[in-house]
Amino acid sequence: MSVMLATMGTRRRTPPATVRVIPAEAGHLPVMVPELLAVLDPRPGEVVLDATLGAGGTAEAFLQRVLPGGRVLAFDRDPAAVGRARERFAAHQGAMEAIVGRFSEAAEVLQARGLRPDVVVMDLGISSLQLDDPGRGFSFQKEGPLDMRMDPASNTPTAADLLATLSETELADALFQLAGEVHSRRIARAVVQRRRQGRITTTTELAEICRAAYPRRGRPFRIHPATKTFLALRIAVNDELAEIERGIASLVQLLRPGGRIGVISFHSSEDYLAKRSLHVLAQNCVCPPQRPVCTCAHRATLSLLNRKVMKPSAAEVLRNPRARSARLRAGLRLPDPGP
Ligand SMILES: C[S@@+](CC[C@H](N)C(=O)[O-])C[C@H]1O[C@@H](n2cnc3c(N)ncnc32)[C@H](O)[C@@H]1O
Repeated sequence: MSVMLATMGTRRRTPPATVRVIPAEAGHLPVMVPELLAVLDPRPGEVVLDATLGAGGTAEAFLQRVLPGGRVLAFDRDPAAVGRARERFAAHQGAMEAIVGRFSEAAEVLQARGLRPDVVVMDLGISSLQLDDPGRGFSFQKEGPLDMRMDPASNTPTAADLLATLSETELADALFQLAGEVHSRRIARAVVQRRRQGRITTTTELAEICRAAYPRRGRPFRIHPATKTFLALRIAVNDELAEIERGIASLVQLLRPGGRIGVISFHSSEDYLAKRSLHVLAQNCVCPPQRPVCTCAHRATLSLLNRKVMKPSAAEVLRNPRARSARLRAGLRLPDPGP
């Protein structure tokens, strides 16, 4: 029997509490909520860490399950998301706390308060609210500044800064490695040629450079030629892969023994990293295979709850096409290793 079934079968079900919050603004539908609740099984009295608050739909579903007695602490590096959530959840101030910060720093914040969560949930990427706001620069479909920082108040480089400063090779490598853009060299060459006339500053300028750089095949493009370039730049601007790696490792460490973590990813580089991070934490030895005896001190801190990645239901994809690429992986925190 899988660990998931073994642990879930013994729990008593308590009817969910009623959480009254201001409805979320139209625009972001939380993804794979029934699957998250089933695999992570939050219970009344438990502490949940939502590492990626967004519009707060996932946090709301978990809050409903942990009341009475439990609480949700939710992080987002986007101050606008946290501001909105504080208003939405104003009636639950004691039970729901929204915090501005990166999830790679969340373990430190909770540790300082002496808190170990029972559940950690990570719904990676950006929300529809961010994507659909032209002023953020995430979408090639709307004219806006090429910013793409999830935390716009930080003084880290924007997408426009990267396009102005990366060498042609660095840019091509980023497009290929972060988003699998097969025409990365053509696009990088076109960017470098175009920037000789001045900085590339708007989403639509970049979208047009990508479209013009793509080879023409006499039939419509399957996806817009700028799709992967925008994805790669967003990942680079926000250092997302390093965040995921550091975030998963530190939050699994922080989880209470018997606690559960669920990670939803939306594209292959995120999912590869989520899978690798969880698998490494679930191994008792990470020595190279050619080493005859184990010399690493690595011990498993996690047991995987689903060997096979979970996907959204057909009904959800129909209702919310943005859910179609979601992939959910989950793990159970093992007891802390002895001295
Ligand atoms: C897909 S949305 C989450 C949606 C959310 N589950 C809901 O129900 O609305 C991802 C959110 O995580 C935030 N985010 C992404 N990476 C982050 C990080 N490293 N630290 C904190 N927040 C992050 C983004 O700003 C965005 O608001």
